[in-house]
Parts: sequence; structure tokens; C-alpha cells
Amino acid sequence: MKPKTKKMKLAVLISGGGSNLQAMIDRIEAGKLDAEIGLVVSNNPDAYGLDRAQKHGIPTAVVDYRKYGKKRLSRIPKGSLPREFVEVVNRQRIFSGLPPDELEDRLARLVLAEQEIIDLLDPLAPGLVCLAGFMRLISPYFIEHYNTEDRYRIMNIHPALLPAFPGTDGYGDTFTYGCRFGGITVHFVDEGEDTGPIIAQAIYPIWTDDSLDTIRKRGLELEYVLYSQCIQWLAQGDLQVVGGKGGRHQVRILDPEYPKFVEQLTQQAFAR
Ligand code: GRF
Repeated sequence: MKPKTKKMKLAVLISGGGSNLQAMIDRIEAGKLDAEIGLVVSNNPDAYGLDRAQKHGIPTAVVDYRKYGKKRLSRIPKGSLPREFVEVVNRQRIFSGLPPDELEDRLARLVLAEQEIIDLLDPLAPGLVCLAGFMRLISPYFIEHYNTEDRYRIMNIHPALLPAFPGTDGYGDTFTYGCRFGGITVHFVDEGEDTGPIIAQAIYPIWTDDSLDTIRKRGLELEYVLYSQCIQWLAQGDLQVVGGKGGRHQVRILDPEYPKFVEQLTQQAFAR
């Protein structure tokens, strides 16, 4: 950790167990991560991650997407949706193959829930929004609220070696495909599903006697280390976004210790 790195204010979005959240909390408390968590938001009122946050005195909130249920766009009062809604519909890349009416209904529900999260987060002015097992799609409305041209302010941890196996079951997909190595990816979030610029990845071996449970355990141990490290790099100013202008953005890691970090993490994953 570089001396005098300014603490980065985080908002963390979760849906479940929150073991990644716990790893961040532990590293912050151990002085290894220059950040503070201003708020944890869950879409699931029963998420164990909420208890974890509360145990450490971190404020929590629930935004239950189910309350927007089957709301139709035509029933949503004018003025409840943001003015940019039409652009959100045009820019979205998360739903495909839906009839236009259904697409607009789904996006409208999503945007209403996201507006609630934004209203909770804005007073904190988070430097970074961390998705940590947040199991809801994210619309361009939410993303554009935080990202600007080449300044990404939403990070995600994905349990597979992207671009392989995007979606909700990275470990399951890696295992059932018969891969000999699995991986995890920390990336910035853009408007596609798991398509944003990759920050860092780690790999683990899949041995012949492994099960889905054993590889998940191995991968999660890497997630805990890699996610916090990526946040720390951002806080230190060690992540630089390059490229773009019609091409893909890429992330340069400026920390000279990066190769050593990768070597140690790989050794950890391959230890028998
Ligand atoms: C992790 O495997 C993460 O990669 C994925 O969802 C899982 C969340 O686990 N996005 P937890 O809630 O942090 O324990």
C-alpha cells in the first residue's frame, strides 16, 4: 500500500451471502485497503451480507425489486421515470429478443428500482460502486449515472475467466464444460452483461478429483484477495483506462508490484 492514499468511499451492492463484502471489511479493518464502506444495499431483504455489514456498524438498505412486480410502462405515472428513459431503451444491451412493449416494461421496472438505489447512494457521493454478488441486471441508466466517457466507477467480480462464461453461474459453467483451469475476473462495468474492461484476473487448476464445491471454494479464496487489490489500485491511482474511441477500453495497472502479486496469487491457487 502506498503511503497517504486517500480513503475511497465505497457503496457495495449485494444479493446474498456477502463473503466478498466480508473480505473487503476485513481488509479495511486490517489497514490493507484504503477505503470505507458508506452503505451496503441489497435487493434481497434476507441477504446474510446485510447482517455482516451491520455487525461492523456499516449502514444498510434494502431495495426490493419485487415491489415493481409486473408493473407495465403504461401504468407508471408520467414523471416517475427519468427523462432519459427513451435513450436507455435505445442503448440497452441486456435484453434481447423481446417484443418492444415487453422490453420497455422490463426496463421501466429496472430503472425505477435503480432510481431508488441512486437516491440512497447520491448523498454519499461514492468514489466507487462495488457489485459483490449482486444478482440483478443493471441498465444504462444506472451505469451512466456513475461512469463518464473513460472514467468507470462501477466494479464487479465475476466468477469465471471472461470473456468465457458470462452470466450468473460462472463456477457451474466452468466445471460442467470440463475446463482444466478456471478463473475469476474483476472488471469495470459497462452496458453489456459482463463485458466491461477487465482489470485483473486469477486462475486456479481444476484437478481430476475436484467437485463444483471444491473449485468454488478455491475460486472464492482468490476473489477475496483480487477484488480488494483492484479497489486498492483504483484508490492509489494505479489503474489507467486506455484505448476507446471506437475500440475497446483497456486497463493498465501501474503498480510495479503487479507481477509479484500475480505470482503469489497463482502459487496460492496451485498449492495442493
Ligand atoms: C461470487 O462468486 C461472485 O464472484 C459472484 O457472486 C458470488 C457472490 O458471493 N458475482 P458472496 O455473496 O460475496 O459470498
